[in-house]
Amino acid sequence: MKFRKIGDSDLEVSAVALGSWVLGGDCWGKVDDSVSVRVVAEAIDSGINFIDTAPIYGSGRSEIIIGEAIKGKKDVMVATKCGLEKKGRSIRPNLSGEFIRDEIENSLQRLGVERIDLYQCHWPDPDTPLEESFGELKKLITEGKIRYIGVSNFEKELLEEVFKIAPIVSNQMRYSIFDRNIEEDNTPLCAAKGVSILSYGSLGGGILTGKYEEPPVISKSDVRSFFYKYYAEPFWSKAQGVLAVLKNIAEERDVPVAHVAINWVLSHKEVASCIVGSRTPEQIKQSASAADRELSTDEIEKIEKVIPCLF
Ligand SMILES: NC(=O)c1ccc[n+]([C@@H]2O[C@H](COP(=O)([O-])OP(=O)(O)OC[C@H]3O[C@@H](n4cnc5c(N)ncnc54)[C@H](OP(=O)(O)O)[C@@H]3O)[C@@H](O)[C@H]2O)c1
Repeated sequence: MKFRKIGDSDLEVSAVALGSWVLGGDCWGKVDDSVSVRVVAEAIDSGINFIDTAPIYGSGRSEIIIGEAIKGKKDVMVATKCGLEKKGRSIRPNLSGEFIRDEIENSLQRLGVERIDLYQCHWPDPDTPLEESFGELKKLITEGKIRYIGVSNFEKELLEEVFKIAPIVSNQMRYSIFDRNIEEDNTPLCAAKGVSILSYGSLGGGILTGKYEEPPVISKSDVRSFFYKYYAEPFWSKAQGVLAVLKNIAEERDVPVAHVAINWVLSHKEVASCIVGSRTPEQIKQSASAADRELSTDEIEKIEKVIPCLF
């Protein structure tokens, strides 16, 4: 396993992190909690020391599973989030001081820790002044409840405002061979400010493992029908050309296709950790071992050639 530092912090995290949206059990079809605990255990056994979660993943279920699995494991760093409120079936951003206060206490309890290593605003909240949200987060640092503040899904203009008022260390963004939007202005701004990117969706929800010969049948409630849209046309057909190149590289190297997708993300040094979701222990074991390799310049060029003409 290789390790990288998050921004201007002392968090030395594994280049591959475990993501735990799937473990919440509400957006990715059924999951078995006893298997989920083994996923976290396998991640740690495979050298991963950084786990990403959020209260919204299964309304706390993902945090509870992680809390159970990391009991007594002092070297594991956890990143969780705040600011998404579930009311009935709808979810709305809420970064009010009051809501952050509620959420931190619940997260600490569910995770069974005294302090959260990285606490991230999950999505921007246009209805709460930044001063209120980040003022509350700074208080949480002073009180010893969190070590560092991060954000997620914050675009350039908003980041510029946040940088004026709070010492954030990371921006968690969707980033994969299929999704390169952040490269234009988000990544350069973060790099200039010494803020790391934490990538999510780097396997495109699974398609970038090359495991699908045909588009999978996906229910409406499944994240792959509304969040990762590569499983329906026109994206499905476009994706096949890119996947053919990735499969070719994987075959030549004798590695899984997922390694090529993860290594491509990690070839961008602004990314401190590639957060990868896993339903089974076998999946995270495979993803973790990607960190032992790097793509060659030739391989990166082959991928670069095929991406711009398809997306
Ligand atoms: N900040 C945010 O707004 C945000 C948004 C999304 C995600 N995230 C975080 O980032 C993490 C990673 O993103 P993600 O989980 O959404 O997507 P992802 O990592 O691109 O895809 C994860 C899915 O790919 C499949 N998979 C993973 N490894 C595999 C392997 N070796 N072989 C075959 N299939 C494999 C599994 O699904 P199947 O078994 O069902 O195929 C797994 O659930 C999340 O878990 C979450 O912690 C954050």
